[in-house]
Amino acid sequence: MNPAAGSGDLVARDARCLWHPYTQHATDGAPLAVVGARGATLTLADGREVIDAISAWWTCLHGHGEPRLLDAARRQGERLDHVAFAGATHEPAVALAEALLAAAPRGTPPLTRVFFSDDGSTAVEVALKIAFQAAAARGATGRRTFLALAGSYHGDTFGAMSVGDREPFFAPFAPLLFDVLRAPVDPAGFAAVFDRCHETLAAVIVEPLVQGAAGMRMHGVELLRTIAARCRAAGVPLIADEVFTGFGRTGALFACAKAGVAPDLLCVAKGLTSAAAPLAATLATEALFDAFRAPERRRMLAHGHSMTAHPIGCAVALESLALCRERDVPARLEAIGARIERALAPLRGHPHVRDLRRCGGIVAFDLAAPVPAATPSGGAAGGGYFTERAPRLRARALELGVLLRPLGTAIYACPPACTDDAQCDRIAAAMAALADVT
Ligand SMILES: Cc1ncc(COP(=O)(O)O)c(C=O)c1O
Repeated sequence: MNPAAGSGDLVARDARCLWHPYTQHATDGAPLAVVGARGATLTLADGREVIDAISAWWTCLHGHGEPRLLDAARRQGERLDHVAFAGATHEPAVALAEALLAAAPRGTPPLTRVFFSDDGSTAVEVALKIAFQAAAARGATGRRTFLALAGSYHGDTFGAMSVGDREPFFAPFAPLLFDVLRAPVDPAGFAAVFDRCHETLAAVIVEPLVQGAAGMRMHGVELLRTIAARCRAAGVPLIADEVFTGFGRTGALFACAKAGVAPDLLCVAKGLTSAAAPLAATLATEALFDAFRAPERRRMLAHGHSMTAHPIGCAVALESLALCRERDVPARLEAIGARIERALAPLRGHPHVRDLRRCGGIVAFDLAAPVPAATPSGGAAGGGYFTERAPRLRARALELGVLLRPLGTAIYACPPACTDDAQCDRIAAAMAALADVT
């Protein structure tokens, strides 16, 4: 088959029947026709090879087509594909729960329970529901709201949208979202808000160390320590949303561990299965679990999904966690991030580049708008998430053989742990080239 012809046909069929996520179909260009993936590389239908510098939306931890994960999926599928997890159990779910609890940040009280769901958003929904219903079950009926950080993103379902910042994504739904309290992203600012409202809180929710969708905004461990200490002292559950940061992305297995803090609820997804299957989990303390144990059946957590604890997803996640340890993925990602950051260092001082930053394997900088002669203020980051430059930025990176997907004018990379030195250098070169895209 002529691959170029195949690509055209696929894209034309796609245009007739598909609706893509986070895509403006009126103006965004045709989607990439992807026919294969191995390691850090995607193969396109026209024969081009492109480095996946965003790890398939931050999911692909080890690399594409990792044989150990595909093997684990096949073996598990042949044994047991799925069973309703209400009233049944199976080895992959139990083994994965044990492994996750052993790997989770250690605290007092420790995380002792695992509730499985499908993706990052559902992991967050489950955490919110657990915290809210547990407060009510304990008779703390005044604890009816959540405190979240400015700029936070926790997913696209309604509870997750509610705790997320309304901008840039959720403004159309604002009338339907429940109110939450919001604190600034600095220790003193957070403490001031928390001290005023903690008696009303069912929980605090935070993306530890990196606010991904907000544009890879990074904060130090001090903020996380302040949040954890305040929550602990006031008896307010802390939800750590490590959907993005978990499994090594920040250079530690969990971002919370890097700050030496432990949450009461921990949300994981994305890297949990390294993109080889969809799965998510919410880890909880025994005290939260106990709030639902009662003679009255109606006090249960009335929540579940068709695919909860899918055995194939669990088997893949168990193998992925083993790989994480065998290959020291956090250290590997740290080294990858450091190499890309070093290669980008000459950009410091570039008139269009602001705030080159890194946390583990995540490297980012902000693009300031080139200053048109007629604009007196100039120099401000141009256009926010919905910048018209987005398609041009993506196209330029692709010309250089790298898949980047800037968050508005935040240019970032977080490639998989298998990315080699030459690929890191190509990613850095593509990022650098975007500094001059107008
Ligand atoms: C911190 C965080 N929480 C939750 C989510 C939602 O995850 P999903 O897209 O798997 O629903 C994301 C997705 O980017 C995320 O970054």
